[in-house]
Amino acid sequence: MRHHLTSMLAVPFLLASVSLLESRAADLTDKREPVSRTEAERTFVLDQMRLFLTSVAAIEEGLGSGDLDRVAQEAAARGRKANAGLARPPTLAAKESDAWKMMIGQVRGGFDEIAAQAAANAPPQQINATLGKTMQNCVACHQSYRIKIED
Ligand code: HEC
Repeated sequence: MRHHLTSMLAVPFLLASVSLLESRAADLTDKREPVSRTEAERTFVLDQMRLFLTSVAAIEEGLGSGDLDRVAQEAAARGRKANAGLARPPTLAAKESDAWKMMIGQVRGGFDEIAAQAAANAPPQQINATLGKTMQNCVACHQSYRIKIED
């Protein structure tokens, strides 16, 4: 009886695993639009990306421990004002689509808004909501583009 029950449970489980594998295999075509960048441009962009992620983690740590000074500082460092004079590869701007520029702009603007809210001692819930809204741009852009090295 026990064996019987086990095999009855195993069949649907196996079928489910097979169809999971199939759907994974079908998903292996990359639907994101490739955008061409030189190696140096890609290095620059990915470096900025890792700074975004590092700051998001630090902002969350600051919110979690009630350290709003840290939140303000980390967010401001990724904002528009702090990055206005950033040394970017000079060839990069011309390659960026309007959608790309808009999403990056909203990320920078979102970090500035988080910095202002933290400086004004806004409730962590409100700051988190702003971070969530800001990160919708990270998600949207990552779903849209991938970098391809220019030949
Ligand atoms: C305007 C587009 C855009 C926005 C906005 C954006 N990213 Fe990215 N990000 C990319 C692209 C493109 C890649 C490279 C993906 C690829 O080539 O597969 C990337 C890669 C990354 C990586 C990988 C870095 C590495 O070293 O490989 C991280 C981490 C990352 N992004 C974090 C973020 C975070 C966090 C945000 C928001 C705060 C963000 N990104 C916003 C376009 C964007």
